[in-house]
Amino acid sequence: MTKKEHLYDLFKPAHYDVYLDINRETKIFNGKVTMEGEAVKPDIKFNEKFLNITAVKVNNETVDFNVDDQAETVDVNCGKTGETTVEIEFDAQLTDTMMGIYPSYYEVNGEKKQIIGTQFESTAARQAFPCIDEPEAKATWDLAIKYDEKPGETILANMPEKECKDGVHYFETTKRMSSYLIAFAFGEMVSKHTKTDDGIKIGVYASPAHKEDELDFALDITKNALEFYEKYYETPYPLPHSWQLGLPDFSAGAMENWGLITYREAFLTLDPKNASLSVKQHNATDITHELAHQWFGDLVTMKWWDDLWLNESFANMMEYVSSDAIHPEWHMWEVFQEKEVPMALNRDAIDGVQPVHVEVEDPADIDAIFDGAIVYAKGSRMLVMVRSMIGDDALRKGLKNYFDAHKYGNAVGDDLWKALGDASGMDVSAVMKSWLNQPGYPVVTAKIVDGNLQLSQKQFFIGEGKDEGRQWQIPLNSNYETVPELMKDQTLDLGNYAELKQKNGNKPFVLNVGNNSHFIVKYDETLLNDILDHIDELDAISQRELLQDMHLLAKGREISYSALVPLMSHFTKNKSYIVNDALFEIADDLKKFVKPGSEDEKNLRTLFNELSAAKYAALGIESKDDDDNDAVLGRPTIVKAALYAKNEKAIKDAHAMFEAHKGHIATIPASVRPYVMMSEVANYGNEDLIKTLLNEYRKTSDGIYQRDLSTALTVTSDKTAIQEILECFKDADTIKPQDLREWYVGLLGNSEAQQATWDWMRDNWDWLIDTLGGDMEFHTYVTVTANTFYTKQRYDEFKAFYEPKLDTPGLRREIEMDVNLIKGKVDLVEAEKSAVEQAIANEVK
Ligand code: BES
Ligand code: ZN
Repeated sequence: MTKKEHLYDLFKPAHYDVYLDINRETKIFNGKVTMEGEAVKPDIKFNEKFLNITAVKVNNETVDFNVDDQAETVDVNCGKTGETTVEIEFDAQLTDTMMGIYPSYYEVNGEKKQIIGTQFESTAARQAFPCIDEPEAKATWDLAIKYDEKPGETILANMPEKECKDGVHYFETTKRMSSYLIAFAFGEMVSKHTKTDDGIKIGVYASPAHKEDELDFALDITKNALEFYEKYYETPYPLPHSWQLGLPDFSAGAMENWGLITYREAFLTLDPKNASLSVKQHNATDITHELAHQWFGDLVTMKWWDDLWLNESFANMMEYVSSDAIHPEWHMWEVFQEKEVPMALNRDAIDGVQPVHVEVEDPADIDAIFDGAIVYAKGSRMLVMVRSMIGDDALRKGLKNYFDAHKYGNAVGDDLWKALGDASGMDVSAVMKSWLNQPGYPVVTAKIVDGNLQLSQKQFFIGEGKDEGRQWQIPLNSNYETVPELMKDQTLDLGNYAELKQKNGNKPFVLNVGNNSHFIVKYDETLLNDILDHIDELDAISQRELLQDMHLLAKGREISYSALVPLMSHFTKNKSYIVNDALFEIADDLKKFVKPGSEDEKNLRTLFNELSAAKYAALGIESKDDDDNDAVLGRPTIVKAALYAKNEKAIKDAHAMFEAHKGHIATIPASVRPYVMMSEVANYGNEDLIKTLLNEYRKTSDGIYQRDLSTALTVTSDKTAIQEILECFKDADTIKPQDLREWYVGLLGNSEAQQATWDWMRDNWDWLIDTLGGDMEFHTYVTVTANTFYTKQRYDEFKAFYEPKLDTPGLRREIEMDVNLIKGKVDLVEAEKSAVEQAIANEVK
C-alpha cells in the first residue's frame, strides 16, 4: 500500500485553544480554534469534515484557504515555515450519526430530553473542529464551551472545569494527547462519586432515566481497577479525575477518552436487584478495558492506525488480567476462553482475513479494522501467548519501561517487543512477528508414523483457502516435558511414542495445555482415543479445547461433522459451564443439517434432550443458595437447550415463572429471563403477549432487559407479529439505531421470519446506509447476515446483492470473506447432510 501524506508531516501542533458555542434548539454550533505549532512546509493542511469554515488567520493575518471535501482537509498557505499560529472560525451542525458532536435521546416521565456528547475515534474530531486529526499529532488542549444552558445541567470534559465566565465553561489544560481522545458532554445527569486511595476523583454519570443505585456497580469496579492498574503498571494515573458516562445513544460499546470515558448505557449501569453474573462480568470487563486504555492508548498512543492492536489488543487482554485480580471467584480466564478464543479462531480461519497488524490509510478502512475477532480477540490472544511465554513479572517490568520511554508520546509495535524482550531476555519480536503480520493460524497435526510421534503445521481454513505455505513459531505447551517449547519448522519428529509416553507417566499426549497459543490440534485416532479415555481427568479448559478444536476441524472439513455426534456423549455429565457452552455450540450447529419440521429435526431435539435432561434436572430454572460459579453461569445454556429439546418440565417451569411475574416481567431472574420470555412467545404466544412485550421494550431504560425482550420477540412464528416488528425497524422511538442489529439478527435466524427480514434488508439498504453508514460497526450487518446463511439459494442471493456493493467504503473485505464463508457452509451441508442425520439417528435410538 502506498503511504498517504500525513498532515503531521506538514504541521506539528503543540497547543490548541478550542472554543465552541452549541445550540441544541437549532442544532448548530459555532467555533473558533487557535493552533500553535511548527509549520514544516509553507503549505499546510488541517483535517475538517462537514464544517463550514468562514475565516482563517495565520499569525493574525487573514489568509485564503481551500476546502477539499474528498480529502477531509482545509488547505492553508502560511507563506513560511517555523513557529506558526493558525486561527480558524467555523460553524457546523450537530450530527445525528453518533459521531462527532451528537445528541443522545432519552425519555423521563414522558418527557423527551437529550444529552449532547462526543465520539471522535477514529477520525471524527475533525467533525467538531479543524485539527491535525492523527494519533501522532499530540498537543495540549484548552477547551472552552458555551451552550444553551438551563439550571440543573452538568458539563463534563477530559479535565476539570477551571472557571465559568459569561456562560462559558473553561477547562484546565490537558496533558499532551491525541485529538481522537478529546471528549465533552452536557445535559441533565445523575451521578455517584468516590475517590481512589491516592485521591483521584471517580464519578459515574448517566441520564436521569436511571436511578442512582444503578451506578454503584460501575463505581466500585472503577475504583478497584484504577487502583489495580496504578500498582500493576507501576505508573501513576496522570489526571485528576476519571469520569465514566453512559450515553443513551452510542455506536460502539465504550470509548476511552482520557479522563471522560463514555459508554453505551447498558455497558455501564445495571439494576443491582436483578443483574445476571454474566452481565456484571461484561460490564466489569468493559470498564476495565477502557481504564486499561488510560495508559495503553491514552498515555502512550500508537503512532498510526496500522498499530491499532497496540491499543485494542492490549486493553482486551488487560480487561481480563484486572477483572481476574478484582474478582478471582469469577474465573475470568474461563470467560476469555469462552468469549474471545472462539471468535478469533472462527474468523481467522477464513481466507482473506486481515492480519492483526495491517496497513490502513482511509478513514472507512480504519473503522473497519476495529474488528472484534481480529484486533481484539486474536490480538489479545497473541498477548496472552506472550504473557504465558515470558511470565507476568517480565511483562510488568517491560511495560513499566515502555511507559517511561514513551509517555505523552507515541509508539510502534517494535517498541513494545523491545521493552518486553529486554525485560525477559527472550527474542519476543521474532516469535510475534510471525503471528502479527500474517493472517490466519496453523493446525498442528500430531500423529504416530512408524512408531514415532510426529508434528506438522499448515494453515487452517474454513471454506476455500489458498495455501501460501505460511509458517508460524508455535509455542507448543505440551504436557510432555521433552517436547521443545517452540515449533519453528514445518515438521517436528519427537521420537518413539511408546518411550515418550512411558517417560511421561503414561499420560495421554496433549498440546497447547491451557489453550494459550493460537493454533488447533488434529490428533490421529490413537492419540485422540488416549485423550478420550482420560477425558474426565482433564481440566475444564482442556476439555473445552478438545471440543472446540474438533468443532473447528469439522467446519474446516478436516474431519466429518458426523464424528462430532458420538464425541458429544462423553460430556453428558459434565458440570463446567465453559464445556457445556462448547457442547451446545456444536449441537446448535447441527441445526443447519436438519429441515425444520422433519423427523431428523425431531431426532436432533432428542439429542439435545439426552445432553441436557440430567443437567436440567440438577440445576432447575430457579437459582439456588448453594449454586457455584458453574451453576450460575451454566444455567442459561442448559435452560435454553432443554427448551429446544421440548423438555416438558422445562417448558412448564418457564411458563410458571412467567405467570408468577405477570405485571412485572422485568423482575424475572435476569440470567434466564430471555429464555423464559422466549418460551412464552414460542409456546403460549398470542397477540396480547407480543403487544405487552413490545410495550415493555418501549418503556424501559434498561438496555439489558431490552436485549432480552428482543431475543424473545424475534422467535415468534406469527406472521402479523413479524410484520409488526419489521415495521419498528425504522422507528427510532421504538428501536434505537444502535440496537437495530440485534433485532435484525434475531429475526433473520428465525426460519419463519427469514424471508421477510432478508427482503427488508435488501429493500432498505439505502436507508440503512443513510442512517448507519457512517457508523464504525456498519460492516457487521454483512457479517451477521453471512453467519446466518447456509443454503444455496441464500448464497446466490447474498452474492447477487452484495457483490455489486464491493466498492462501498469499508465493505470490500467483509463481502469477499463472507461470500467464501457461506459457500463453504453450503458445500459442507450438501456433502455431509445424510452422514450427520444418520449419526444423530444412531445416537438417539
Ligand atoms: N476504542 C474503542 C472504541 C471504538 C471502537 C472507537 C471502534 C472507534 C471505533 C474502545 O476502547 C473499545 O474497544 N470499545 C469496545 C468495547 C470494549 C468494552 C471492549 C467496543 O466499542 O466494542
Ligand atoms: Zn478498546
